[in-house]
Amino acid sequence: MATPASAPRSHGSSVTADIDYADLYQRWERGNWQATAIDFTQDRIDWREKLTEEQRRSALWFYTLFFHGEDAVTNGLSPYIEAAPLEEQKYFIATQQVDEARHAVFFKRFMDEVVGLGDGTMAGGMDATEGLLTWGHRKVFGYLEEVAHQLHHDHSTEMLCRAITLYHVIIEGTLAQPGQHFMETYLEQMDVLPGFRQGIRNVALDEQRHIAFGVKLLADEYAKDPELVTRAVTDVIRTVGPWTTGLAAPPNWDDSYFTCFGFTHDELALEGTRSLEFRLRAIGLDLDDLGRRFPLPMDLPLEERALRGRKMLEANLIGPDRPAVRDPEAVGIMFDAIRRQADPSAVRPGTVIQWDFTDAEPWYLTLMNGHTSVAQGRPPHADLRLEMAFDDWVDLFAERADARRLLLRRRLRPRGDLRLFLRLPKIFG
Ligand SMILES: [Fe+2]
Ligand SMILES: [Fe+2]
Repeated sequence: MATPASAPRSHGSSVTADIDYADLYQRWERGNWQATAIDFTQDRIDWREKLTEEQRRSALWFYTLFFHGEDAVTNGLSPYIEAAPLEEQKYFIATQQVDEARHAVFFKRFMDEVVGLGDGTMAGGMDATEGLLTWGHRKVFGYLEEVAHQLHHDHSTEMLCRAITLYHVIIEGTLAQPGQHFMETYLEQMDVLPGFRQGIRNVALDEQRHIAFGVKLLADEYAKDPELVTRAVTDVIRTVGPWTTGLAAPPNWDDSYFTCFGFTHDELALEGTRSLEFRLRAIGLDLDDLGRRFPLPMDLPLEERALRGRKMLEANLIGPDRPAVRDPEAVGIMFDAIRRQADPSAVRPGTVIQWDFTDAEPWYLTLMNGHTSVAQGRPPHADLRLEMAFDDWVDLFAERADARRLLLRRRLRPRGDLRLFLRLPKIFG
């Protein structure tokens, strides 16, 4: 196969303009390390003698998320090699796949040799820790598997951009990297687990290269077709948003899983939010002018953006758990998310949809190009009223229930303009 003399340089972003696929490959050769050579002797002692029970519980849970994540990304990368258009890109992704396998081996060794879980095989280590995975983790990595499968059959630029957004920007850049930095920092400060620290430092350096590759590829494609890349990035963020919020949600929202090592879940979420924004800007996306329907509320301060997901998840307005907690702040965030999601161009300006809850205060949405609004209370006029129990609505919003089933059971009763009711999927995407 012909190898292009040089990969195109990005015009979309000054951050990625200096990155070159061949340089990234060279950095991989220079940065090679061995997961099997790490000495865990002191780690075994520290694990038993220096960490508290609470810290062991926390570390086991948090490292399990990484262990299973590394296995999933190793398995999911082959179609990316097939779909990447340039030889330099294919070669880099091949190096990345080796890295991910090495990361999985590193975590497996830690589980086996330090924690004492599993039988020394990958499957044994994974079986022994599987029960600790979160809902968000299962959803995100289940989706990665689905996307990898789609990419295997569809090598289009748009499919590749979607797949890279999920893998490199969301999983590596938003979820994994901030967590690795927190781990590195607190273990350094506590001066414990030297083998693990050495390994995680190397993992983080590898990930930095992977993320740089993904951002570079998306920036190159953005320079050629901004609309296509914006659409791919937007769709993926919309799909995985609630799942990413739940990925590192500790059991029962017990913050001691984080505070026992000196940080909080909210600090981790803030770093993830900051990291995502940085990557999106590096791709070239004009975040201040992406239009109403971009799934992240970019007009809000970073701190507020980072906290919104947790508030909705804690109130069971997203996620797998029921029933919904009627926390007024969380309910307000849910309706604000509905407002942001709504596409007013799908209806006549001034169209009003009312949620006429049988057991809670009503809400209504007024669709208007440029200033769609949402409010609690009863509007003077509604084009469509959705008569239903509050919990049934939340189940729909959280994708825990199916609208057709609720309709058939008469638990969802649309009143007024029924053609508008049929257009709801178009309005809310
Ligand atoms: Fe990795
Ligand atoms: Fe990676």
